[in-house]
Amino acid sequence: MTISLVNQAHNNIANYLSEGDIAVDATMGNGFDTLFLAKQIGEAGKVYSFDLQAAALHTTEQRLSKEKLLHRVCLIQDDHSQLSAYLTKDDVHSIRCAMFNLGYLPGSDKLLQTTPNSTLQALESAIALLAQPGIISILAYTGHTGGREETESVKSWAKTLPKKQYEVTIQIPSATKNSPPELILIEHL
Ligand SMILES: C[S@@+](CC[C@H](N)C(=O)[O-])C[C@H]1O[C@@H](n2cnc3c(N)ncnc32)[C@H](O)[C@@H]1O
Repeated sequence: MTISLVNQAHNNIANYLSEGDIAVDATMGNGFDTLFLAKQIGEAGKVYSFDLQAAALHTTEQRLSKEKLLHRVCLIQDDHSQLSAYLTKDDVHSIRCAMFNLGYLPGSDKLLQTTPNSTLQALESAIALLAQPGIISILAYTGHTGGREETESVKSWAKTLPKKQYEVTIQIPSATKNSPPELILIEHL
């Protein structure tokens, strides 16, 4: 059985996260990834979750409340490029994981999709604050307008990272789809 790239991202991240960790969901959307992170970091940890859209915060708040995990998460309605402005002094250099699931919110305005400019700014902030060991995962889609360019710009940026400090892997499903999504993992070893 093949597992989805979302599950592959979760499995890789789960190897890094433990009780008390700080995690970032740079693209909250419907809150599935935020919920996953909130479960991993335990009562002593914190998740900072970003989205531009109020609808994303509303859905995510409901999802977390249902699971009684809302208190573990800071829900932030802002551009993820502003990441560092929201972290407390204690948390700022200790991000264990940053998760990006690029593109647009399913079922909403496709124009509100991630863009290379803000994605790369957010990645720059995340890598500067990433703990060691730590992981950044980027699930990038190539099928929608602008998606291929964004995916390529993320991969080009990842290639510039010092190889001694960061291991970059790219997973592409072997399925027959013309424009498969890609999972880019950056591990700070
Ligand atoms: C594919 S969805 C994320 C799915 C989500 N992780 C989940 O578990 O449901 C991408 C999200 O990124 C958000 N987004 C787009 N540009 C953004 C930006 N510059 N800063 C923060 N969020 C952004 C969109 O509003 C959308 O909700």
